[in-house]
Amino acid sequence: MIVLGIETSCDETGIALYSHEQGLLTHRLHSQVDTHAVYGGVVPELASRDHIRRVLPLVNDCLDEVGLSRADLGGVAYTRGPGLAGALLVGTAVGRSLGWALDCPSLGVHHMEGHLLAPMLEPEPPAFPFLALLVSGGHTMLVQVADIGRYRVLGESLDDAAGEAFDKTAKLLGLPYPGGPQLEALARDGDPDRFVFPRPMTDRPGLDFSFSGLKTAVVNTVASADAEPATRAAIARAFQDAVVDTFAIKVRRALAETGARCLVVAGGVGANQALRERLREEASAQGATVAYPRLAFCTDNGAMIAYAGYRRLLAGERDDGATEVRPRWSM
Ligand code: KG4
Ligand code: ZN
Repeated sequence: MIVLGIETSCDETGIALYSHEQGLLTHRLHSQVDTHAVYGGVVPELASRDHIRRVLPLVNDCLDEVGLSRADLGGVAYTRGPGLAGALLVGTAVGRSLGWALDCPSLGVHHMEGHLLAPMLEPEPPAFPFLALLVSGGHTMLVQVADIGRYRVLGESLDDAAGEAFDKTAKLLGLPYPGGPQLEALARDGDPDRFVFPRPMTDRPGLDFSFSGLKTAVVNTVASADAEPATRAAIARAFQDAVVDTFAIKVRRALAETGARCLVVAGGVGANQALRERLREEASAQGATVAYPRLAFCTDNGAMIAYAGYRRLLAGERDDGATEVRPRWSM
């Protein structure tokens, strides 16, 4: 079986082909970053229109590259939610239409399940069960994963997602959208001792997160500090250290509570090197291994949707009659 994966939940059009026998055959990504950067954030209508322009040409490119035709597809998986409604509609309409036209099954996939399973595309995939830290632009959660589809959310953000906190802080520091990677680069040269920000919700039991207080601390510091490059770098460093520390503390707790032997870290913020290194140390101190997707599959991509769809289609799941998208969809 060869499954086509279509990701259009936000500002990247991601397409991939996954084969039962050969694994990931190919993947393509079109990022809309340049389109949205001038507005300082994603403009939903522009995102939808660009997905419409890109999806089918990228599908054709992927098929051409590996010498296949649409008739070779055994299934089509697309992101049904969560995400921007109009953007999701594009992938959903194309995915379902291809399924009908080709007489092959289609399936709407949960975007965060895609992120969660992205490390399975690596040469040494994690084995179930594991603990997953999902850190993206829209979500921050700790999930106990028994198997595909058997998820227990142990904790999540009560306000901003981690990526959102990175993006907002980056904006305060005058960095362009999307701010996460830019803030990481700025923090690299920052003095780690000049500012100290709170580690939210670490002084009480539980596995939930909150990042709005941290953002306020940054706002206040930016307002009272000078605008020298070294100062901005030190603020970026203090913010990143606070976020990384907060995740390390909660992951330590969650590993102890669940007894998990493996930690999976996925989602856009999982591309952050400081976070990756710290969680690697944290996991190994507790005798657990840590699995990351490659950097390109931390952020949104079609490969993770093709894989998640493949696993569920293989288990016999099919789209139901409903065609609506799920902009808000809990795991
Ligand atoms: O998973 P993703 O591509 O999209 C969502 O599903 O939201 O995550 C995007 C988020 C953005 O907020 C972006 O700033 C953040 O991930 N991000 C990073 C880094 N790379 C991407 N945050 C911190 N450090 C990075 N290196
Ligand atoms: Zn995502």
